[in-house]
Amino acid sequence: MEAASIELDELNLTDPAFFARADPDDILRRLRRDDPVHWTASKLGRPYWSVTKYEHVKHVYANDYTQFSSQRWGPALPVGMDWANPVPGDMMSLFQAGAQLAAMDNEPHANLRRALSRRFLRPSLLALEETIRRLAQEIVNDVLPRGECDFAQDIAGRLPIALISHIMDIPRQDWDRLARYAYMNAAPADPEFRDGTVEETAFKGVFGLTEYCTKLALERRKNPGDDLLSDLGAAKLDGEYLSDLLLGFNGLAFFSAGHETTRNALCGGVAQLIGQDKDEWQRLIEKRNDTAVMHAAADECVRWSSPLTHNMRTATCDVELGGKQIREGDWVVTWNCSANRDEDVFEAPYTFDAGRANNPHLGFAYGPHTCLGANLARMEMRIMLSVLLESVPDLELDGEPEIAASLIFRGIKRMKVRFEPRAPVLQ
Ligand code: HEM
Repeated sequence: MEAASIELDELNLTDPAFFARADPDDILRRLRRDDPVHWTASKLGRPYWSVTKYEHVKHVYANDYTQFSSQRWGPALPVGMDWANPVPGDMMSLFQAGAQLAAMDNEPHANLRRALSRRFLRPSLLALEETIRRLAQEIVNDVLPRGECDFAQDIAGRLPIALISHIMDIPRQDWDRLARYAYMNAAPADPEFRDGTVEETAFKGVFGLTEYCTKLALERRKNPGDDLLSDLGAAKLDGEYLSDLLLGFNGLAFFSAGHETTRNALCGGVAQLIGQDKDEWQRLIEKRNDTAVMHAAADECVRWSSPLTHNMRTATCDVELGGKQIREGDWVVTWNCSANRDEDVFEAPYTFDAGRANNPHLGFAYGPHTCLGANLARMEMRIMLSVLLESVPDLELDGEPEIAASLIFRGIKRMKVRFEPRAPVLQ
């Protein structure tokens, strides 16, 4: 696709293939410069506001509850084409019923978030550090003798699944099946995960995961353990246990939220480091045991990759944003991938700077819905990066990474890498 030939009004940011085949940076740069709050006349019928500048995106997140809702139409553009005529479908009704933390507003959101936060706070995370390091080394050890692997599937995708499964205490034999459901939900347009139409694929993924999580959370309500599904089983809203629906959809949210996003952030960052910015990779090899440097590198992976391309809100009142009059009920799409390249906020935004000192990126959003797993994700990435730098300093790309066709998760599906084969590292 020739970016220069695209007129802003013809732009179809809602086409998943757009992110797979084209580099959206040019068009997003033009939007930031020429029309940062852009009434996007989607070919699918329902227009929405595309918000592309950092200050406006942050304003929207900061005013969740008061001016914007995640619940009315969900926290992201709906998957599939039927939203041209947006009659609430099954998925939409679930969002509107507040079935998931990310799609709830006001007090119920704040209360449920509080009930489920414990495992993402500092003391729990510190206790996880050694487990993460062991899992990361095991994953890398598995590929070391081969001298090549698919970094996306064999490394970056395995750590988040292993870790969230550990936190939820999901039996090992179920991980692969659940991971497939998560892919079907995240990238239903991708031919590799297709099972029926785009909508059918997404629904099969969603219901496979929700059914599984509901069953396990109900069992743990009776026989609690020390895990996130037991926390879900025990959580109460207004003095009542969560319904089966809320158990299932929040279980799905935790399983998926930690998977695609962390995988994509790691892939995006490492692809850049071993593809374009090899000097940065060399510099990091020296600093691999410096926690502060590796922490900064993990954050830069998130800014750089912006794994959630966008989020969405519905205006709950008339509000002015960037000189545009937004009406109550309008959809407002916050393009994280654009805010994180804003020239007015980030020095050299198109440069991957692993040691970036001032990095207030919005890759984890901001405000009441700020990513609950942000510190866990940072820790996972920091540790995996240092294990890689230690164990495979000669990591290099073997061909171009393959981008997944998803509108929500900007990510790499396959990324062949090679290195000198060697024996696993003793733990
Ligand atoms: C690099 C990795 C990650 C990225 C880029 C990321 C990004 C985000 C973003 C942008 C949001 C805000 C959505 C919105 O405002 O509508 C969010 C919310 C959330 N994330 Fe993450 N996430 C990551 C990893 C994780 C992990 C590891 C977990 C947990 C296992 C997690 C759990 C959540 C949850 C539960 C929410 C909903 C919070 C709420 O609505 O109060 N995320 N994430």
